[in-house]
Amino acid sequence: MGSTKDRTVAFAFDIDGVLMKGKKPVPGARETMQLLQKLKIPFIFLTNGGGHTEEAHVAQLGQRLSLTFDEKQFVQSHTPFRDLVPVYKEKTVLVLGGHGQQIRNLAHAYGFEKVVTSSDVFVEFEHIHPFSELTKAHHEEHGRVGGSVISKDDGTMVKGTGEKKLSLKTTPISAILVWTSPRDWCLDLQIVNDLLLSSGGLFGTRSAKNGDETLPNCGFLQDGQPPVFFCNPDFEWSTSYDHPRFAQGAFREALRGIWRRTTRDRAELQYSMVGKPTEDTYRYAERVLVEYCGEGVEDGKKIDTVYMIGDNPESDIVGANSFQSPRGIEWKSVLVHTGVYVPGTVPVHEPHYSVADVKEAVESTLKNEGVSTDSFCL
Ligand code: G3P
Ligand code: MG
Repeated sequence: MGSTKDRTVAFAFDIDGVLMKGKKPVPGARETMQLLQKLKIPFIFLTNGGGHTEEAHVAQLGQRLSLTFDEKQFVQSHTPFRDLVPVYKEKTVLVLGGHGQQIRNLAHAYGFEKVVTSSDVFVEFEHIHPFSELTKAHHEEHGRVGGSVISKDDGTMVKGTGEKKLSLKTTPISAILVWTSPRDWCLDLQIVNDLLLSSGGLFGTRSAKNGDETLPNCGFLQDGQPPVFFCNPDFEWSTSYDHPRFAQGAFREALRGIWRRTTRDRAELQYSMVGKPTEDTYRYAERVLVEYCGEGVEDGKKIDTVYMIGDNPESDIVGANSFQSPRGIEWKSVLVHTGVYVPGTVPVHEPHYSVADVKEAVESTLKNEGVSTDSFCL
């Protein structure tokens, strides 16, 4: 295990802008991960990316780096949504992000049983989005009336099955979960805004409480509207394009702007959020790392320090800097210059140190920690 006489170190790796640029590995990434595997130094991946199950995503990363990783090493933006399954398992949830059936299938794989997509909403309410020319065909191909919500006692009979599909005209949405960047922003913003103004999460309704100044939050969000869960605070992320691109956080900002105008600045938009840099996600990640060490590393020794290797000061760096480990583990941040951060500028949050790339990050950290890599050349 990667330990000196008295200390044990571990790593948490951001993916986009550290190990990958789009679908291509950052130079040296493969060799660096291979070295850690050979040295049996524990590490996890801690990414704000998502859109697949942990199993599928870790396999995709492994294939791109020509290495094998364990699903148990993988924390992605929506991994903490697993904690919501006991609450919403049998309730109807609206899921946003991705395309086709991708997020519906993902939510089902997590254990959510009644999953509705914005394509489902589109096919059931043909006039909900008046500017659908560019996306209509996609929604019509992938939308289902009532989503995948099946009931024996309510709704329309499904031909030949004896089952009845629920109608979204009578089935309230209990929660809105944003899994990855929405694709059809205009439709998704319209639908979320509608639900936030609804009575009890039912499409086509408007709460009579909206705007009532005698109520908290001026009456907004006081009538059983579904809570909104985001999982990636990143405003932008590093891709194969020369400059960072919008991420889920940009969609959230758009919703906030629309909400401000809708409520004429009279009400807070309330939502929950996980993903880096939130404390919840770092706590979750540390638990995953400790459990992974317990199972996957020789002696299950206690970790002293986790080095978070990241490219985004507003996500990876501030998250690691501010995290207070309940186990007393020290978290340190290392900023690389292969992603969102623009070399030569002052980072919004200072890392413990800054290096060119992931290879240098690991090499210099191991050197500082006195871990010998002599017999393993990078
Ligand atoms: O914000 C988009 C997401 O893909 C960034 O991923 O690996 O840089 O946290 P990562
Ligand atoms: Mg990144």
